[in-house]
Amino acid sequence: MLYVFCRYCIMEDLERDLLIYKGFYFQRKASITGFLENIDDFEIRDDDVFIVTYPKSGTAWCQQILSLIYFEEHRKRTENLETFNRIPFFENCFEDIDFGSRPSPRLFATHLPYYLVPRGLKNKKAKIIYIYRNPKDVMCSYFHFLNTYPIFKAADTIDAFMKQFLEGKVLGNLWFDHIKGWYEHRNNFNIQFMMYEEMKKDLRSSVLKLSKFLGEDLSEETLNAVVRQATFESMKDDPLANYENALYLYFGSKLREGHFLRKGTIGDWKSHMTVEQNERFDKIFRKQMKDFPLQFIWDVN
Ligand code: A3P
Repeated sequence: MLYVFCRYCIMEDLERDLLIYKGFYFQRKASITGFLENIDDFEIRDDDVFIVTYPKSGTAWCQQILSLIYFEEHRKRTENLETFNRIPFFENCFEDIDFGSRPSPRLFATHLPYYLVPRGLKNKKAKIIYIYRNPKDVMCSYFHFLNTYPIFKAADTIDAFMKQFLEGKVLGNLWFDHIKGWYEHRNNFNIQFMMYEEMKKDLRSSVLKLSKFLGEDLSEETLNAVVRQATFESMKDDPLANYENALYLYFGSKLREGHFLRKGTIGDWKSHMTVEQNERFDKIFRKQMKDFPLQFIWDVN
């Protein structure tokens, strides 16, 4: 999920709508003098959980899984609260959410890079789930997302957006820096890496892996409910999970076309990128990710 309210923009509008703070793009509304400046000192609790993602990597999906694991009222649909409110975006500092008064365990989502998170996280307090996804699919998902909302000034073509994406001139900055930063500093954090593609191929095992990391012992019935309600199809039909209401409220406008939960597949980039674009992307990928140890299974469809 992209940072809500984010007014993404083509190159010449970047400076108008986004600001760079400590090398990272934030929505211009973000309060530099308040929350961001003091973010290091934000008090982390041992049982806090952070979902960390580069945009379009499965944030909303993980929000749904955690909402289902932690809240029986979400599983049973007895409470009308969206995943977006159960697990707010940490850097939504302009929204006036009093994080300090939220009951434990507090759950957050964030797109922040490793070096901008509160000190408590760096001291291995709390748990972090880092979801990553094939950057080609991330790029295509991002391109569609921006073109879905009329308030964004998205690039007209994949080619134009690819240039922007590979220069890191988007909210989230450079994909390579984001994942490398988190991975290379993983020993400073209590962090579990999860690959979107593995979640897609075996949701049940992924939910079990997550619940184990979180120390949540799920009954068979609960596990079944989580898996059932966290599939793409279930989420698409679930107004508490599909972001349609939330984004309508936040963006204040109807979609141009399409949905936030667009396709939810592996390898959709193949229907968007030309052979030449793919080769160009691969060349940069190989250079950037040289010696990077995470296992990539992205082309296994
Ligand atoms: P697509 O645009 O490729 O469909 P984020 O929440 O980080 O913005 O990521 C959004 C992407 O995750 C979208 O990808 C969305 O469809 C996908 N997604 C959300 N829920 C999913 C699910 N249950 N299964 C698979 N993909 C899901």
